[in-house]
Amino acid sequence: MLIIANWKAYVEEAAQAKKLYATAKRLASASKHELVLAPPAPLLSLLSAKNRSRVAFSAQDVSASTGGAATGENTAAAYAAAGASYAIVGHSERRAMGETDATIALKLRHALAEGMTPVLCVGERERDLEGHYLSFVRAEITAALERLEPKERAQVVLAYEPIWAIGKTAADAINPNDLAEMVLYLRKVLAELLPGKNPAKTRILYGGSVEPEGARDLAGGTGVDGFLVGHASVDPKTFSNLVRAVL
Ligand code: PGA
Repeated sequence: MLIIANWKAYVEEAAQAKKLYATAKRLASASKHELVLAPPAPLLSLLSAKNRSRVAFSAQDVSASTGGAATGENTAAAYAAAGASYAIVGHSERRAMGETDATIALKLRHALAEGMTPVLCVGERERDLEGHYLSFVRAEITAALERLEPKERAQVVLAYEPIWAIGKTAADAINPNDLAEMVLYLRKVLAELLPGKNPAKTRILYGGSVEPEGARDLAGGTGVDGFLVGHASVDPKTFSNLVRAVL
């Protein structure tokens, strides 16, 4: 399983970041899971500079610019130089700040150009009985991937993060049956966008209130390849319990 810890802006101090990194290193050496930390940019470089462990690092976002006169921007090249091998792109919290499909596609390209693995986040705000949420998610994926070359598309990790499930508790996360159904649907959409490629090879993550309590059921039998974990990733004990719960 690929487990990405999205620290968001929850972690702001070096001491807490170091503690979480030490926990992740211990967990990584004791399990088969691929653990990726996505700290705020200044803390990422603090931790990744001396990283010799199996833990990998991710940007929470990358700039739509490629450098030069762009004060305050963190480019994909700067993240790659700082040791990030993944880049979260299109998170709903960034989309809510006005990020467009075109910007998201540009960011995916920048991350790929730097040899990073982009993690494209998609997900509906709410579910409706008619199933419009399915076409909404399809449109988000299509808008991002159709702007990429076919071989680039195959390198993207997809994170399905329904907005209605984010930042709550395990009881509010998607239920395993609905997740299994969504994963099948996502594979169908990917098959259309990746002609000639095996859609089973694209890694699909779920994010939205993944906590230790529900993690095993969400992982087993649903077809997901891992999780994008927010609030449950910023407490060492909770994160350890979560990783250990996932078989
Ligand atoms: P959450 O966040 O685990 O706190 O719901 C997930 C995410 O937004 O990536």
